[in-house]
Amino acid sequence: MEIKEVFNGVYRINGKLATENLVKGTKVYDEDLISSDSREYRTWNPYRSKLAAAILKSLKNMTIRDGSNVLYLGAATGTTCSHISDIIRENGNLYCVEFSERNMRQLLDVCSKRENMFPIFKDARLLEEYANDVGTVDVLYQDLSAKDQAELLLLNGGLLKKGGYAYVAIKSQSISVSKPPRQVYKEFFNKVSPKFQLVESIDIMPFDRMHMFAVFKKK
Ligand SMILES: C[S@@+](CC[C@H](N)C(=O)[O-])C[C@H]1O[C@@H](n2cnc3c(N)ncnc32)[C@H](O)[C@@H]1O
Repeated sequence: MEIKEVFNGVYRINGKLATENLVKGTKVYDEDLISSDSREYRTWNPYRSKLAAAILKSLKNMTIRDGSNVLYLGAATGTTCSHISDIIRENGNLYCVEFSERNMRQLLDVCSKRENMFPIFKDARLLEEYANDVGTVDVLYQDLSAKDQAELLLLNGGLLKKGGYAYVAIKSQSISVSKPPRQVYKEFFNKVSPKFQLVESIDIMPFDRMHMFAVFKKK
């Protein structure tokens, strides 16, 4: 078996992307578990996770690593969160904001098994209701499919340290159905530019056709 570490805590195993399972023997979705040299890895499906898709599409700036503190907006049922939880290990903290009750029920189950994940059942627009619990973070991750995605990045960016990175899956159709996607992305970049410098933008096709994956650095 060929195991290659492509970023801190992110592996390619026989061509498949994977993270080292923080909670051995447990699965979060339909991923495969692979054991090697007393470690266990979980395959990471790029069709289920835009971060995995971005890594496979040659993401250059990956700042999520062992010990990172991460604020995640739009945690859903915890698929991508669980892989970030694997990467940041026991010393990291992952704050998972989600406002859907249905998704939160599944997310709670994932968080109960992973001590570095903290569920926050809130609307990402109500920052003042969770800011104190989160504090300052190294990384902001946003995958919300909301019309006001840019405004929510600016608002929650207040918790991101200066020079920290924000990873954003931008859904053009949620922001505007009438404008061409390229124009929507340009307007998004312009709107956040007073606070965020665009570092790279990645087309994550064929894994996902609806989003642009963008990486920003806080000014
Ligand atoms: C595309 S899904 C996220 C998928 C997830 N990031 C993953 O990769 O596993 C978007 C999620 O954002 C949540 N969401 C949308 N707007 C929100 C808001 N204002 N506050 C909190 N959660 C929100 C939705 O309920 C949904 O679960």
